[in-house]
Amino acid sequence: MQFRIKPNTRKIAECIHDGIIDAKSECIMKALNDVEPTSLSDYELIGIGSPVFWYKEPFNVQDFIEALPEQEGRNWFVFCTHGNIIGNFFPSVTKKLNKRGATVIGFHNTYANITVPFYLRPSYTSGHPDAYDFEQAKAFGREIVERSLKITHNGDDFIPKPEPVSSQEWIEESKVLTKEAIKNFMPKFSINIDTCIQCHECEENCPVQGIDIEAEPPRIQDPCIYCWRCVTICPTLSVEADWEPLVAMAPANYARYKKELDKVAARGEFRWLIDPETIVFDDPLYKQRQREIKDKE
Ligand SMILES: Cc1cc2nc3c(=O)[nH]c(=O)nc-3n(C[C@H](O)[C@H](O)[C@H](O)COP(=O)(O)O)c2cc1C
Ligand code: SF4
Ligand code: SF4
Repeated sequence: MQFRIKPNTRKIAECIHDGIIDAKSECIMKALNDVEPTSLSDYELIGIGSPVFWYKEPFNVQDFIEALPEQEGRNWFVFCTHGNIIGNFFPSVTKKLNKRGATVIGFHNTYANITVPFYLRPSYTSGHPDAYDFEQAKAFGREIVERSLKITHNGDDFIPKPEPVSSQEWIEESKVLTKEAIKNFMPKFSINIDTCIQCHECEENCPVQGIDIEAEPPRIQDPCIYCWRCVTICPTLSVEADWEPLVAMAPANYARYKKELDKVAARGEFRWLIDPETIVFDDPLYKQRQREIKDKE
């Protein structure tokens, strides 16, 4: 897959990969879309990582885990990148992996900038992941190999618990944000055939084959997971939606996010890299991109 804008999770996956190689182990890194759930039987340790969507794992990750054959006796680790609120990500993924028989032996999370179209600039987590975050991910890669070897070969029985990193209110919210609920409240998006230049970037960067550009008219279809990557990636802003209702909700949400981030920062788990007072509430990313494209014309 070619990335014009490399996803945060990909950047962190590459660091974990490098850490595993540093620990003198072999490591293969693949996009989830390119992995057959039944093809993992030869591996001693398997990691799965994704962004956090709606305070938990995205729907394609849920589907992937559900399609796994029995994983009894196999070590897994889980990682994610996220903006303000990690929510229920680790407990939710772990519960699903445990159900498949997997042993989950480690967790790694990284704060990252948020690039959703209706978000404000800068976002609270802008500047992440930085060099320190990359080093942490690499160190995790080295440590997880060591832990896996100890568990498998030395009979070490220390298995960490997936601690929720966020307050209970977010964990509760993650549970009501089902695929159906999200489908209902998301703005409907479509491809503007007058401006689309048929470059196929949206299709190539879609994590789940949710776009058919060759269809007439081009369409966004199941199994779309509502990640908005096609919207942020399109060079002509041809994937269109009415973002204003979501922009209007931002100030209230941001007040809650700030409260949570202050708590996490006090525990030493988050570093502010921007001054939160500099956030502009009425200039979301999609408007900034519209201006950029107009300036180029
Ligand atoms: C649809 C969507 C939902 C998101 N929900 C959350 C969330 O609940 N909590 C959070 O902290 N970040 C959330 N984010 C931000 C992403 O988790 C974050 O930007 C992540 O690093 C994106 O990873 P990627 O660049 O690999 O796609 C959301 C982003 C999108 C696009
Ligand atoms: S990325 Fe935009 S311009 Fe390119 S094919 Fe998709 S909708 Fe069309
Ligand atoms: S929002 Fe766009 S990129 Fe994301 S899954 Fe749906 S079609 Fe694919």
